Amino acid sequence: MACERDEQGVGASRIKVNLKLKTKSSKFKTSAVPARWRPEVEHVLITDEQIARRIKKLAREIERDFRGREMVVVSLLNGTVVFLADLIRQLNLPLRLDFIGVSSYGSGTKSGELVFTKELRLDVRGRDVLLVDDILDTGKTLSHVLLKLRALKPRRIKICVLLDKPARRVEKTQADYAGFSIPDFFVVGYGLDYAERYRNLPFVGVLHPHVYKKV
Ligand code: PRP
Repeated sequence: MACERDEQGVGASRIKVNLKLKTKSSKFKTSAVPARWRPEVEHVLITDEQIARRIKKLAREIERDFRGREMVVVSLLNGTVVFLADLIRQLNLPLRLDFIGVSSYGSGTKSGELVFTKELRLDVRGRDVLLVDDILDTGKTLSHVLLKLRALKPRRIKICVLLDKPARRVEKTQADYAGFSIPDFFVVGYGLDYAERYRNLPFVGVLHPHVYKKV
């Protein structure tokens, strides 16, 4: 049998977002941005402490749902590396880990054509898959990856993302576990990049428009 119906959508009602994110730029504490990044990062949207607290809670939810199963974590390169490293170290479950390399080559802030740079190697047939991504934006990446994964006949697929940006969604894809629902800001850090930079910021920050508008 193909994956269970709950791989998309059904679990969305279970998403708990424990952070009330302010949407007016004026309310953000720009002083929280380390001096080195202040010329490029407008404000900190989510601090490293908030991320760490949220990941612990996500891990407890995932443990409850995956206990007793043959779990395979499939993580999308490259943006997930920081989130993934923190998430799996909070998961007190046996798991296997593999990666799919996928990138949307668009210019600037637009999602473009998807290119797969690494295929999955582990066999997921009959197993429970946790698909991890850093951000669910338009949903094009995850919907495309889901198509490929379903063809491999896992028992079920659940989606975990750190950030959910519902305002930009064009596909129906929803996450079963989402760290934070965020407004339509251009965010970087904690794995997320702009032109391959800023992935190493320990927080999620909002990029100054002058950075991406000058390209
Ligand atoms: C980013 C991000 C998600 C995807 C989300 O990946 O990591 O995978 O975009 O966007 P979507 O919902 O509009 O498809 P990107 O292609 O920038 O590659 P990266 O992971 O290497 O940063």
